[in-house]
Amino acid sequence: MTQVVTTVAELRAALALLKPARIGMVPTMGALHDGHVSLVTEAKKHADHVVVSIFVNPTQFAPNEDFDAYPRTLDADLKKLGDAAAIVFTPTAREMYPEGFATTITVGGPSAGLETDFRPHFFAGVATVVAKLLIAALPDIAVFGEKDYQQLLVVKQLVRDLGLPIRIIGAPTLREADGLALSSRNAYLSADERKIAASLNAILKDAIATARSTGNLRAAEATAIEALWNAGFAHVDYIAIRDAESLDHVTALERPARILAAAKVGKTRLIDNMAI
Ligand code: PAF
Repeated sequence: MTQVVTTVAELRAALALLKPARIGMVPTMGALHDGHVSLVTEAKKHADHVVVSIFVNPTQFAPNEDFDAYPRTLDADLKKLGDAAAIVFTPTAREMYPEGFATTITVGGPSAGLETDFRPHFFAGVATVVAKLLIAALPDIAVFGEKDYQQLLVVKQLVRDLGLPIRIIGAPTLREADGLALSSRNAYLSADERKIAASLNAILKDAIATARSTGNLRAAEATAIEALWNAGFAHVDYIAIRDAESLDHVTALERPARILAAAKVGKTRLIDNMAI
């Protein structure tokens, strides 16, 4: 039976009853889909009990973004999880950011560029809330999706730099049959936009093939950007081939690399990435 708690004190009391068992954590913003369930499944491989947090974190949204529209579906989320999570932590904004809250965590390294060029507020909001969630639960491991690849590297950097005794595990992206990465924001897509959205992953695969066969990474990126425009994307924020560990710029495929993309279909911003 899943226990739903809303305060850090309740969370810690519930966890104390489970200790010394190994605890895994999966931080989410809710609107859970099979991708989130796969993160919980991954967490269960490394832990005896899993805590899922559901919190739409205001500090990672800019004023012009979709914080108000972001789907909040707690009942459906609890159903989706079934009894996979021992504890679901659903704090209020006041619980996470009490009156007078004045701390922001800024992570350097992998947060530079890419998402930060288009959402400059984003990683400080993510790092601050993830640090708070991890400190609240102090799990042995925490699982984050590779779907948000830059976020995964930022969280790893944060945990390393703050010396938190928690192992961060990346879990592979779950996709629809046509390649579209599962995302809570896919719910915003109209039927026409959904068709366009599917081409993002196909275009990334083509770009990987071009990069491998020609070795010309900038040309592969440029061709992919043009392909996105031709497929009907309304805006392309970036397609970039980077070092897979640091996200540094690379000019050749000499070490593991990653292709990362962000583009808008209509008003919906999609991100995706793949290993090269
Ligand atoms: O990936 C997400 O859902 C969020 O960015 C996270 C990690 C739960 C922090 O709010």
